[in-house]
Amino acid sequence: MDKKKIPLILDGDPGHDDAIAWMLAKASQRFEIKAVTSVSGNQTIEKTTYNALRICTLLGIDAPVAMGLPHGLLSEPFDAPSVHGQSGLDGPRLPMPAMELSPLRAPQLMAKVICDSEEKVTIVSTGALTNVAALLTAHPELKENIERISLMGGGLTHGNWTPAAEFNILVDPEAADIVFRSGIELYMAGLDVTEKALLYPEDFQRIRAVGNQVAEVTADWLDFFYRFHRTLGYSGAPLHDPCAVAVLLHPEMFTIKDYHVEIETAGEYSRGATVADMRDFDGVIPNAHCLMDVDRDSFAELIVEAAKAYEGRTVEI
Ligand code: BDR
Ligand code: CA
Repeated sequence: MDKKKIPLILDGDPGHDDAIAWMLAKASQRFEIKAVTSVSGNQTIEKTTYNALRICTLLGIDAPVAMGLPHGLLSEPFDAPSVHGQSGLDGPRLPMPAMELSPLRAPQLMAKVICDSEEKVTIVSTGALTNVAALLTAHPELKENIERISLMGGGLTHGNWTPAAEFNILVDPEAADIVFRSGIELYMAGLDVTEKALLYPEDFQRIRAVGNQVAEVTADWLDFFYRFHRTLGYSGAPLHDPCAVAVLLHPEMFTIKDYHVEIETAGEYSRGATVADMRDFDGVIPNAHCLMDVDRDSFAELIVEAAKAYEGRTVEI
């Protein structure tokens, strides 16, 4: 990856870890955020869209925000209030949206941004892949203008919503199948790495001590997110979604293996599983750079440093 500014579309279902991923993206000088799009997942599409607008207002993301599709390509919506609360982003108070929603739906806005961009665009997907798959289906000719897709989803050895499936892939396995077959360069931050990308309560304190408004809200998001995960035995908050941004900034922080990953769309017990051939057989052509491990301390430092970038920014809450 070269050092030019990377044009980015942020597509997610915010969500605490989505919000922190976007905080990390906006803090970096390496990215130019061209659009933000919501997808249903952690909550209904109305709620994740509202959360997206409020996060953009808090962080100062000055890009069009479009509402995504209300459910998976072939599946009914289901949400995750146990993890993210009834609003999809419970915890600290957030500002009212300071911007209007785009009149375009998410796949249309994505297509417009990609068409209008002189540089190839990177998509960061931190929810179900519904919008991305709808984009690729409607505009296959735009594939060559997509530099890469960095996604949080799946897990090569286990799931978190079922024994086999991770939440984002399970919400829309058919969409994931389209994306993994697309031929576009994929970075997959699955549970293999994201459950190692833990922030501990002492990290929350360091972030809070940064002292600006975004840092305090981020620390509150982490407190909320950790409360649920602690009941499952986690020693910290697993920052799933920020891994999909961090790998674009610091690939050297991660152990990355190239595998051929397929999406189970039919299994009685395994719908939504990401099945990788991890044997070293000749002739297997990889379709994804799979993140397998992370230098946790450097990752935590990256999040703390990102919070510092918001010094001097305050909005009315
Ligand atoms: C994924 O599910 C969502 O609840 C999180 O935001 C993350 O994208 C982790 O399985
Ligand atoms: Ca998410």
